[in-house]
Amino acid sequence: MDKTGTYKIVSLFSGCGGLDLGLEMAGFEVIWANDIDKHAAATYQHNIGNIVEGDIKNIDVKDIPDCDVVVAGFPCQPFSSAGNRLGIEDARGTLYEECLRVIDDKKPKVVIFENVRGILSIKNKDGSLLLDSIINLLEAIEPGYNVQYKLLKASDYGVPQQRYRVVFVAFRKDLKVNYNFPSPTHSPDDPSLKVGNIINVPDGTPNQDEVWELSPQSKALIPYINEGGSWKDIPYEKLPPRLKRIRDNMKKYRAPNFYRRFARTEVNGTITAAATPENCGIIHPIEDRRYSVREIARIQSFPDNFIFISDSLSAKYKMIGNAVPPLLGKAIGESVKRSLDIALNPNSTDKSEEEVEVIIPQYGQVALNI
Ligand SMILES: C[S@@+](CC[C@H](N)C(=O)[O-])C[C@H]1O[C@@H](n2cnc3c(N)ncnc32)[C@H](O)[C@@H]1O
Repeated sequence: MDKTGTYKIVSLFSGCGGLDLGLEMAGFEVIWANDIDKHAAATYQHNIGNIVEGDIKNIDVKDIPDCDVVVAGFPCQPFSSAGNRLGIEDARGTLYEECLRVIDDKKPKVVIFENVRGILSIKNKDGSLLLDSIINLLEAIEPGYNVQYKLLKASDYGVPQQRYRVVFVAFRKDLKVNYNFPSPTHSPDDPSLKVGNIINVPDGTPNQDEVWELSPQSKALIPYINEGGSWKDIPYEKLPPRLKRIRDNMKKYRAPNFYRRFARTEVNGTITAAATPENCGIIHPIEDRRYSVREIARIQSFPDNFIFISDSLSAKYKMIGNAVPPLLGKAIGESVKRSLDIALNPNSTDKSEEEVEVIIPQYGQVALNI
């Protein structure tokens, strides 16, 4: 923390900077960031600031500055040995170990990890849960960390998308921080979350004329899909053989909902890094095309002045699909900052961010920060 009281972040696996943008909106400052992907790094550099492009495995901790916070959205890989007995040494070879290496050296006040929902059930090679390994390893780093995690729904925080992320927040034990994950601020009925209110992009908005063309097969199929529909609208005889086989035995394949085309009155589904129409809500509701780069950026809650830089169109879709929505990052950041402020300045009289209890019909009584 500097004299102005700004908490400093070291960001690992930073991508194009969705999470970091949200944390900066919440009042943190990123002082060091890293990603291996040159397209994501170029976008990060343009919009947020300096980033070291390269494999984290090749970076010496001595070249990373001291900080208050370490944040990381590491790709998950199961460990090869038991979660309960793991030491940092045993976790070698996984990208997660790279986070531990930095945390062990910097001893930040708080660690924030984000990951996909699947991390809740991923097993190590010995059958133990990866989740338990992560908690045990963080707790074991001197002087010890208190780890909390929660599955968060992005639309609860104003992101116009049905997207889930698991977030871990671990405070250093000696700080005795009391932490609660942020309370929802938006109900699912909020008009600001609906597709129709998101895709009305004005002409001339950056990245709006960039549309990744669909494959010939998808191009032939999607005209049959109604707004709000899915592959179930496509006549059987028009389906390719693989989809015919699935349609013939929907029970066996657990009735998948391929080629979902969200309606303007719905909240869009998850935008994935692959951006394939078969598995991701990426088809425009009324035009027979993929969403543009700007449209998916908006669905991920990136502001229109955040510009995606790359000579590869698919790389832009990938970095946006990989990102934590900035508004989710902001909500996490505000909750972490509030807890840190209270723990580090217990006599603070700053009442600028008070919690009040309000009633939101879907959630009953919740706390809102005003
Ligand atoms: C899920 S994305 C992170 C998204 C980011 N938190 C955001 O909000 O935009 C994971 C990132 O890890 C990066 N990555 C994967 N392996 C890496 C490595 N060995 N060293 C550095 N970065 C790596 C990928 O390029 C990708 O951008």
